[in-house]
Amino acid sequence: MDMNNINIEEIVKQVLSGMTGNAPAQAPAAPAGNAVPKTARVAMLTSLEHYDIKEFPIPSLGDDDILVKVEGCGVCGTDAHEFKRDPFGLIPVALGHEGTGEIVAMGKNVKVDTAGKPVKVGDKVVTCMIFKDDPEITMYDLNKKNVGGADVYGLLPDDDIHLNGWFSDYIFIRGGQFGSTFFNVSDLDLDSRILIEPCAVLIHAVERAKSTGILRFNSRVVVQGCGPIGLICIAVLRTMGIENICAVDGEQKRLDFAKKMGASLSVNFKDHKGIEALAGAVKDAFGGHLADFAFQCTGSPVAHANIYKFIRNGGGLCELGFFINGGDATINPHFDICSKEITTVGSWVYTLRDYVTTFDFLKRAKGIGLPMSDLITDRFPLEQINEAHQTNLAMTGLKIAIINK
Ligand SMILES: NC(=O)c1ccc[n+]([C@@H]2O[C@H](COP(=O)([O-])OP(=O)(O)OC[C@H]3O[C@@H](n4cnc5c(N)ncnc54)[C@H](O)[C@@H]3O)[C@@H](O)[C@H]2O)c1
Ligand SMILES: [Zn+2]
Repeated sequence: MDMNNINIEEIVKQVLSGMTGNAPAQAPAAPAGNAVPKTARVAMLTSLEHYDIKEFPIPSLGDDDILVKVEGCGVCGTDAHEFKRDPFGLIPVALGHEGTGEIVAMGKNVKVDTAGKPVKVGDKVVTCMIFKDDPEITMYDLNKKNVGGADVYGLLPDDDIHLNGWFSDYIFIRGGQFGSTFFNVSDLDLDSRILIEPCAVLIHAVERAKSTGILRFNSRVVVQGCGPIGLICIAVLRTMGIENICAVDGEQKRLDFAKKMGASLSVNFKDHKGIEALAGAVKDAFGGHLADFAFQCTGSPVAHANIYKFIRNGGGLCELGFFINGGDATINPHFDICSKEITTVGSWVYTLRDYVTTFDFLKRAKGIGLPMSDLITDRFPLEQINEAHQTNLAMTGLKIAIINK
């Protein structure tokens, strides 16, 4: 074999691998114009209510790792708790778990995402849970596993890599035994991708609600609490074809948004004194009927106690308003549950499978004209992360997001 033959063989190999989409098994290369810098900025929460923008070297990639250039990340209620009180004892910590960005480099073993979809440099991704104790876990044995038993990027203890949260320029997704899960979501726009994580909470909640068998096309449904969680709940119900939704909140602006999101009815609890009057208002809104089903989307124990009064005999309740301990609620077991035969389900975060359903939900929501992007009311650059968190605490908007340039 002479030199010329070797060259031709090599060229044919390269052309073929280009045609089949298999990159040559060599060191990962960033696409032209998207060169990987030596360092990345990370917003580290270094003390209560204070982030510092720190610069860290970008580590070299292992064969299973992925480097993602961050495009944006939502600020979550959990970030607010961590910002104010550090309940998880993580400070100093790189926060941000509702993020998304573009793959700029990846190890040679990375071929597909957690759902088996092919990935390449340039694809847009989100991360989901980290199953450190079970890195072999697959999409289809996950119904029983939700994030409650797993870690997530954006809530990891700081370590020698530091690029662990989405409030940053770059995030380093570790492969292999680290147990990361991630999804290729290149077919969703940036706002939709930022909303995936909170939307997955509602996909899970509505799946839990469906397990009661009570939720049907023509059900009368109360959604109590019109923060991002309640509003997205309404959107998920609308994409399922549920028409009779009554939103309950004390903030008129939020109730107006609930109407835009697809609630046909609303009740402002501040207009009604006492639970009997409030329940009467809900019943009136439904033309003299109590609700078939109710979703509790506030973190208020009083709201939990109230919601039973909105539900008809034989109806159902999904309680999802408590991500953390919000205290005890007083209910009357006889009147509220037993004699009414209420079926209740709890819902906490989501499974990997719910994530994939969420991608379809977001496309469907857009398809039927729900104003999902309007949920993101405030956008800040990374340098203004402290202002972004203060705006979140002030509760003047809905979803606050960091958007990188
Ligand atoms: N189950 C889960 O996995 C999960 C995931 C994320 C968030 N959450 C929880 O869901 C809750 C809602 O999240 P959010 O981001 O929308 O919060 P949010 O604080 O923005 O919204 C809560 C809404 O409830 C309203 N509200 C308060 N008391 C009320 C009452 N008595 N009756 C009616 N409305 C009342 C408030 O006016 C507000 O609009 C939070 O407590 C959060 O911790 C749960
Ligand atoms: Zn979150």
